[in-house]
Order: sequence, then C-alpha cells, then structure tokens
Amino acid sequence: MRIYFKSLIISVCLILLFSVLGFSAYRERHMSKFGLKNTPQWQSLEKNYREIKKIHLRDLFKDENRFNEFSIRDNDLGITFDYSKNIINSDTFKLLIEFVKVAKVNEYAKKMFSGEKINWTEKRAVLHTALRNRSNMPIYVDGKDVMPEIKAVLKKMENFSNDLRSGKWVGVTGGKITDVVNIGIGGSDLGPKMVCEALKYYADGPNVYFVSNIDGADIYEVLKKLNPENTLFIVASKTFTTLETITNALTARKWLTDKLGDKAVANHFVALSTNAKKVKEFGIDENNMFEFWDFVGGRYSLWSAIGLPIACYVGFDKFAELLDGAYYIDQHFLNAPYEKNIPVIMAALGVWYNNFFRASSHAVLPYSQYLNKFPAYLQQGDMESNGKTINFEGDRVNYETGPIIWGEPGTNGQHSFYQLIHQGTKFIPCDFIGFVNPPEKIGDHHEKLMANYFAQAEALSFGLTKEEAVENLKKAGISPADIKILTPHKIFEGNKPANSILFDELTPRTLGALIALYEHKIFTQGIMWRINSFDQWGVELGKVLANVILPELKGQADNKHDNSTKNLIKIFNSNKK
Ligand code: F6P
Repeated sequence: MRIYFKSLIISVCLILLFSVLGFSAYRERHMSKFGLKNTPQWQSLEKNYREIKKIHLRDLFKDENRFNEFSIRDNDLGITFDYSKNIINSDTFKLLIEFVKVAKVNEYAKKMFSGEKINWTEKRAVLHTALRNRSNMPIYVDGKDVMPEIKAVLKKMENFSNDLRSGKWVGVTGGKITDVVNIGIGGSDLGPKMVCEALKYYADGPNVYFVSNIDGADIYEVLKKLNPENTLFIVASKTFTTLETITNALTARKWLTDKLGDKAVANHFVALSTNAKKVKEFGIDENNMFEFWDFVGGRYSLWSAIGLPIACYVGFDKFAELLDGAYYIDQHFLNAPYEKNIPVIMAALGVWYNNFFRASSHAVLPYSQYLNKFPAYLQQGDMESNGKTINFEGDRVNYETGPIIWGEPGTNGQHSFYQLIHQGTKFIPCDFIGFVNPPEKIGDHHEKLMANYFAQAEALSFGLTKEEAVENLKKAGISPADIKILTPHKIFEGNKPANSILFDELTPRTLGALIALYEHKIFTQGIMWRINSFDQWGVELGKVLANVILPELKGQADNKHDNSTKNLIKIFNSNKK
C-alpha cells in the first residue's frame, strides 16, 4: 500500500513537471496567444532587470575580461563593435539571445531575403537586399527571378552616370551638366542625401542638390544658384504621385522650359520610379526613367535607382562599393551566430532598454561631420518602420515598440544636448559612431575629435562620484562652504549605456555596411516586437486631411472642421495678403 502511494505521488509530480515544461514550450511556440510579456523569456529578462538595475557599470567593469566578452572585431571589414558599456551581465546577454531565438529572427530573415511577402499588409516582398545581392543566386518573387532586371537597371545607372560625368550627356544647348537637382522626399531624398554628404570627400562629379520640402523656399533657394543650360533634374518618387515631389518637379519644369523651351525636358529631366505611366504623363521619356519595384520600400531604396544621384556624384564604382559593404553585412546577418551577430546584438540591446528600462529614445551620435545627416536618415529608417502598435495577429500590443531616434554629430551635440544625457532625468542609450582614419587629414583635428568620442562614452558609463567631485573641487582651491553648495551639481551618476561602433575607415564600403547594420537592427526589433516594419499607414491620414484643407485655403470650399482647426484656417485666410 505504501509503495503504491509513493509511486502515485511520484507519478503526479512527474505529470506536473512535464505539464509545466510542456506548457512553457507551448507558450514559447505560441507567443501570440499568451502575449510577448507572458513568455518565459520576457519574464526572465524582467527578473534579470530587477537585479541588474541595482548594479553600476563601475562594478560590472571590475571584470577585466568584460571588453573581450562583449565586443566584436571584424578585420575583413575593419569594424570594432564594443557593447561592453551596456548594463548587462552574462545572464542578461544569454536571455536576450534566447529572446531573439524564440522570436525566430533568422527564420524571418531568410523569408525576407528569399522574396516571401513578409510585408503582409501591402502584400509585398521586402527585397532591398536583392538590390545589393553580389552573388549569382537568383531571387524569386511570384516565381520570377528579379535579379536580371536589377542588374539591367544597375547597368543603365552606370552608363548614364558615366555619360553625365564625362560630359557625353549634355544639355539641350550642348552645355555640360554641372549641377544635378534631386527632387524627392522621405526615402526618395534622405538616403541619397545622407550618402552624398557622407561620401563628399570622394566626390568628383557634378554638384548635387536635394529639394524635398513643398515649402517653395526649398526649390527657390536652389534654383537661384543654377543655370538651366547646365542643370539636370532627377525626379525621384516611388509612386510618382507624392504631392511635394510633383509640385517641386512642376516648378522645376516651368523654370527650365520658360528659358529653354519644352524640348529641353528630354535632356534635363530623368525619373526614378516604379510608376512608368505617371512618369510618361509628366512628360519624361521612358528611356530616361530608371525603374525600381514594389518590393523596395521607400526608406530602404537608396540601393536602387534612387541611388542615381550618388553614382553621379562619386562615380558608379563607388556606388558599387557601397552595395558591396551592405552585402557583406547581409551575409553576416544571415550567417553569424546570434551571439556574434552585430545587428542582432544592437537590436536586442535596444529592446532591453526600450522594454525593460523604459527608455523612450535612442541617440545616434556620429563623430564624423560627413555623417551629419545620418541621424535624420535613421529617423525615417527606424521610426517609419517600427513606430507601430498592431502586432502580427492584428491586436494592439501591450508593450513599447520603436523608440524615438535622434542625434547630431559629435562634438556639436556635446555643446548642446549632452548636458541632459549626462545629468538629466531621462535615460538615453547612445550609439557612438567613429572612424580610426578619417578620409581628410588636417593637423590634429581627428585626434581631438576622437578624444571626445572615447571620453563621452566613458563619462556616461562611469560618471563622477561624490568623493571624486569633492576631491576635484578641493584641488581647484574652492572654499569648504562653496564645495558644500557645488558638490551635488558636480556629481555625474553615470551608468548610462553606450555602444561604440568604430570603423577603421570611412569608405563607400564601410558606409554601406553601417547603413545595413542599422537596417537589420530595425528588422530584428520589428520581429521581436511582432510588428510589420515595412508598411507606413500612419503617414496617410494627414495627407488625406491636407487634400481636404487645400481648397479651403484657396477659397474654393467651405471651412468645416473642429473648433480649433476651423479658427486657425479662418485666421490664415483673413490675414493672407
Ligand atoms: O512618408 C511616406 C512615404 O511614403 C515614404 O515611405 C516614402 O519614402 C515617401 O513617402 C516618398 O514617397 P515616394 O517615393 O512615392 O514619392
């Protein structure tokens, strides 16, 4: 009887144990059903957070091996990624990687790279990676290999940019094209603008200008510097229906044809678009159109025909090197184990701060003037991708998704907003981006710049204790009474996390790699948060309302709005000169 009772207890315990284990495995497989926050991975991270938030980076760094444990060096690319100044220990890291695993990031990445329609709300494949596919592997969308078309457009871009740069392609009066104006907005502007700025050192082609804003001031200020005989307009628009771009393009066409006649359009206008019909309607010959496709998202399009201004500015070879760098990171992202995968680690750390430390923003701080447009570019890349609230199942998420991305190049930011990062009440993880060798070499500028690059991450992480602050004040000969007053203001709490991304050089290849790192970070986070990173429905409503209001500002329709909007429009209309 006793033996029977004992084995009964053991069986019940085993059943309980297996059902708990089985249930948690089931939960992992069905994240959606139970919600991300109820998964064992999330709960373990929550527990780790409660413990680690009490530990200072100063203490974590007592481990001399920390840099070795939490950094990655890749000699082929010439990149060091140091993430040791993050508030994590080995357990946190393991748990974060576990989270990436159960989110099945690699599975989804393979779906993206192979042309599956992972942008399900628009029923589109997501294939910016195909644009920089440097292998001979075919990539299929709806059963058709897209690589031949991609290669043909790249060839067309190469020929055109060579002709333009060499002077073979001339204006209608035979003048060389010395100035190129890219007219586009969002992804049809920010990417090529950022890259042209970043590769300015290598520029040996025509001047390139970017006009994006519908505010007439933008195009007015560019056109007043230019001679139509030597100017080429690139109208860049995926849809070719964007109000800002079409308005600017019409203004540019009028400016040109008023001086050179209608025939000039053929030599002075080219289009980058997916919409051949609209391009034709605008009056641009199909031969002067560089095509791209629905499977290229606007904010991921600089690798496509949208990169034409880059090829004109620095030459097609350099544009191809940019693609090479991105392809290198694509392979790294697909093949490196999660523990050694830079974009995956960047993403996981971002989730760590966003969802557990409740950090609402993330600063991107390039220590390179050439990268001064990088934060603005990344704002669209990240915020238009991951600024979403609806998950894979169509439900509202009950956790935070994409953070606010912002930043300025160092050291300018140091003399502006760093005060808040160091001593304010907000918790802001930072990415420090730097280069060992700058393209230009002037005196000791670079050592001075990089001294700040290293110092700022160090200061944020380790801060300055009360004892150190008092010691410094004493050394400066401050009176005891003033030391008492000043000390609290002189303390730096530290424990602010920083990633250091340090490339050996700024070249087209490393720039391509840098951009791709962030693209895949964004992708990984989208998968971890279970949202669609590739649509952008949130930009629609404002556009629709603007179309309703426009006739009201022209006196062609009645002003019917909420009390605030109605009165603002009334004031605008009655004060308009
Ligand atoms: O802002 C919304 C958006 O659709 C972006 O995603 C896109 O990059 C931009 O507008 C410009 O669109 P298009 O290239 O079609 O003119």
